[in-house]
Amino acid sequence: MKGIILAGGTATRLFPSTLVVSKQLLPIYDKPLIYYPLSILMLAEIRDILLISTENDVPLYQKLLGDGSQLGIHIEYKVQKEPRGLAEAFIIGEDFIGDDSVCLVLGDNVFYGAMLSGILQSAKNSIANGGATIFGYYMKNASDFGVVEFDENRKVISIEEKPKKPKSHYIVPGLYFYDNKVIEYAKSVEPSARGELEISSVNNEYLKRNTLHVTLMGRGVSWFDTGTPKGLYRASGFVKTMQELQGFYVSCIEEIAWRRGYIDKQQLRNLGQNLIKSQYGMYLLSLVNENRDELSDT
Ligand code: G1P
Repeated sequence: MKGIILAGGTATRLFPSTLVVSKQLLPIYDKPLIYYPLSILMLAEIRDILLISTENDVPLYQKLLGDGSQLGIHIEYKVQKEPRGLAEAFIIGEDFIGDDSVCLVLGDNVFYGAMLSGILQSAKNSIANGGATIFGYYMKNASDFGVVEFDENRKVISIEEKPKKPKSHYIVPGLYFYDNKVIEYAKSVEPSARGELEISSVNNEYLKRNTLHVTLMGRGVSWFDTGTPKGLYRASGFVKTMQELQGFYVSCIEEIAWRRGYIDKQQLRNLGQNLIKSQYGMYLLSLVNENRDELSDT
């Protein structure tokens, strides 16, 4: 399975912070936002990754993450010239996906939870025979997102993009697992009223063919949208609290690479040395030196 991180857009709701730099390079507490979705792909054991961003920002991501080999993964880059919608990721990424299945994660979505690895694994397994798996996450106010509509038997009957009157409290977070048909469906969807190829339209294509699975994420998973200053601040506060309470870092890509066996102890030590002046670097070195609990779920 291939992985795509979409980190484009103009992030106008975060102006002036994003006037000259991509939102996904801003920090969530102690690390760039892009680390969080990248950690999700790594937890799903997806190591072949395409990062899509703007012309201006791709060089910055390359500077930050390189070809991924320092983490034992492979990262390629492509430009999305205009924000023409999330579904365009599959058109831009057609050659990269090839004949494979693909997981798309949005560059501004933060997930956290002990059950996450299991959820990701099941989603991966569930599309081995085709179809799509997306998630439903309970939100008090759902109207800013894709929203799942159920019938009285809890059967999914539609996915609506940013409805004025949401038909449920279950929103669709930015994490999607698709079989290879996603390329064909993305090419066939019509732009919406705001001129974008909506991911909800792709999901409705799968629904029409009875091949869409919606897995509800329970209360054990925390999800943050970071599109506004408040959202960024809330996610930062959460990460700070979790890290201080547990002593384990959230979405630490170097730790995940090491615990999953993508890199060895010496490579982790080198990565820590490069960042030694920061708490983050010290944390990486503490993992090497203190023989920390191997069972922790990164
Ligand atoms: C996008 C999707 C929406 C989804 C959301 C999750 O919206 O279009 O369906 O619920 O991401 O973050 P955006 O926030 O990019 O407008």
